[in-house]
Formats: sequence, structure tokens, C-alpha cells
Amino acid sequence: MKPAAAYIQSKLGDLKPEYAVILGSGLGALTDSIEGAISIPFSEIDGFPQSAVSGHKGEIVVGRLGQTHVLMLSGRVHYYEHGDAGAMRPVIEAFHELGIEKLLLTNAAGSVQQDMPPGSIMQISDHINFSGSNPLFGEPSDKRFVGLSNAYDEELAAQFRSAAKKADIDIHQGVYMWFSGPSFETPAEIKMAKIIGADAVGMSTVPEVILARFYGMRATAASIITNYAAGMTDDELSHQETKDMAPVGGAKLVKILHAMLAE
Ligand code: HPA
Repeated sequence: MKPAAAYIQSKLGDLKPEYAVILGSGLGALTDSIEGAISIPFSEIDGFPQSAVSGHKGEIVVGRLGQTHVLMLSGRVHYYEHGDAGAMRPVIEAFHELGIEKLLLTNAAGSVQQDMPPGSIMQISDHINFSGSNPLFGEPSDKRFVGLSNAYDEELAAQFRSAAKKADIDIHQGVYMWFSGPSFETPAEIKMAKIIGADAVGMSTVPEVILARFYGMRATAASIITNYAAGMTDDELSHQETKDMAPVGGAKLVKILHAMLAE
């Protein structure tokens, strides 16, 4: 075990997290419902990346949601911060070393579909990596040729859908397309995204899913739709809009995750 995982382990006591949950912007509220919460700031963990994006905290919170032991991470690091697609590798590696096998990812995304308005939740069924980058650049072993045919675990996805049903929340399903950011897309790029099969666009999650599969973990993911993508309305896009709108869909996602993990 590397020092990062060993340090987290030393703080866990009786907790044996079964799930790791990566919280996107606006989902911080989910950590409030954790019982017996222990928080560990990234700054205390050797080799953990520091995010400086507003709306992202930079801590791990571990505790119980009902019977389930969960580890939640608020403050992921994005490719666009340093141009390093592997920035989250020490984090996913530490989860793996701690014996966590299930990774649940959330993010904020722009909708490419008219019938999926801001405030919607989209379960990610598959992704398109349009960034030109990959978190496994530089990995020397043959393990780098990781298969992504089942990147999004069908059984976890089914559990998420039945949790949404239990929570009485309608969700969409679709393909998430990863753009590098940090600038938003152009209207021409969004037209292309739609033609090649995207339903939502965003700047995160895909590197973590690739890393999760690299470490043999099972992944499932959902987007909070914060806006229509570029060119679909007359509005200019902004990070402020993402931060303002994320809590709307965030409240729905909190209910679904609660139903999935606590009940
Ligand atoms: N594009 C990319 N990332 C995003 C968007 C978007 O429209 N909305 C929230 N994150």
C-alpha cells in the first residue's frame, strides 16, 4: 500500500468503505447525510492533487449511509487545470488499494438534446473521449490496453435506475462526451457532438472511469444537466451558471444516491 492509502486507512477505524463516490459541483450536500463522518482534507494526503476550481472542496468524507460504508470525494481535479489527464490517478489507485471495488461518479454537464432540459439527471450509458488525451499516457505495462466495452457496469447502472424509481425521479440515459475544456464548446462542436452520438458534454469523469477500469474497479456515473449546450439557446455559457444550476439537479441526485446506498 502506498502512503496515501495507508494514511486514509489509518483514519478509518471500523469503516470499510464499499463504494467511493466522486461528487461533482453542487453535490456537496450529500456528505451532510453521512453518519459518523470522518473528513480528511486532500492537503493531508501524500500525492493527492489539489483542485483550485471554485465550487470544489478538496476533501474525503468517510462514514455510513444507512448500512453502507461509503467514501465520498468532493474536489476532483480536472484535466484542464494542469493538462494532466492522469491527475486523478493517485486518488483512484488509493481507492483500489483500500479495497473499494465500486466507483460512482457524478458531474455537471451541458445537454445536447432538446428534451433533456437543465435540471435533468442523465445516467451515463457510455462515453466518447474527444479530448485527445488519456490518463494512461506514459503507463509502461501492457495493462494500459484496457478494454472499455463495459466501462459502465450494467449491474450498478440497474441499481441506480431502480433507486431513481424508488425515489420517484425520472432520469434520462445517454452518452457523455468528454471535451478537454476549460473553454466551453462552440456551436459547431455541439452540432458535431450530436451527429456523432453524444447526449451530454462535459469536462470530467472519463479519465476517472478509464482509471477505474485500469484498476479493475466497477464504475457507474450520472450527470446533472446544468444548461443547454452552446448554440442551443441565445445565452452565453458560464461557470457561474453551472454553479447556480447544479444544486437543482443535485437535490434529485442526492435523493437517488440516498435510495441506492442507504436503503
Ligand atoms: N460544456 C462542458 N462542460 C459543462 C457544460 C457544458 O455545456 N455544462 C457544465 N459543464
